[in-house]
Amino acid sequence: METTLVILKPDGVQRGLIGEMISRFEQKGLTIAGMKMVNLSRELAERQYAPHKGKPFYPGLIDYITSGPVVVMAVRGARAIEITRKMMGKTFGFDAEPGSIRGDFSSSTTYNLIHGSDSPEAAALELALYFKPDELLDYVPCQYKWVFKPGES
Ligand code: RTP
Ligand code: MG
Repeated sequence: METTLVILKPDGVQRGLIGEMISRFEQKGLTIAGMKMVNLSRELAERQYAPHKGKPFYPGLIDYITSGPVVVMAVRGARAIEITRKMMGKTFGFDAEPGSIRGDFSSSTTYNLIHGSDSPEAAALELALYFKPDELLDYVPCQYKWVFKPGES
């Protein structure tokens, strides 16, 4: 079982796509283990995107992610990291695959609606930025046994 950190970015919030994006995770059968709406401080944004510090797009990325409220979510399930990345689609909306969140709702080279951790190590670091351990809720939705066969992890 994996838990990954998802951010519904400011464009997704402003465009009224919070529900659409959350629905996709629910429909996929993943579990929402934690969720909150926040304004990211520049300090927190810089910690979130520390691996990109120094790249040309970094200042614009920090401006973008701090430009309005975001929803941060802990998404849980077997292979949750890989599944979430596939559901997001490629980085930029203009070449993201139809059927993915970015492919269906983003056309931009900048505004791409959603973030998801790209590895178990990143997920652990990023989850700790937003959630205390007791804010990640340990429950098993009743549908779960029909989403994953027992033993799948
Ligand atoms: P994210 O981290 O937000 O989930 O996105 P990602 O893994 O698909 O893409 P990543 O390479 O980690 O880039 C992080 C965010 O930086 C912006 N970006 N701009 N102009 C550029 O070349 C460029 N490259 C990346 C995007 O907002 C991307 O989501
Ligand atoms: Mg990334």
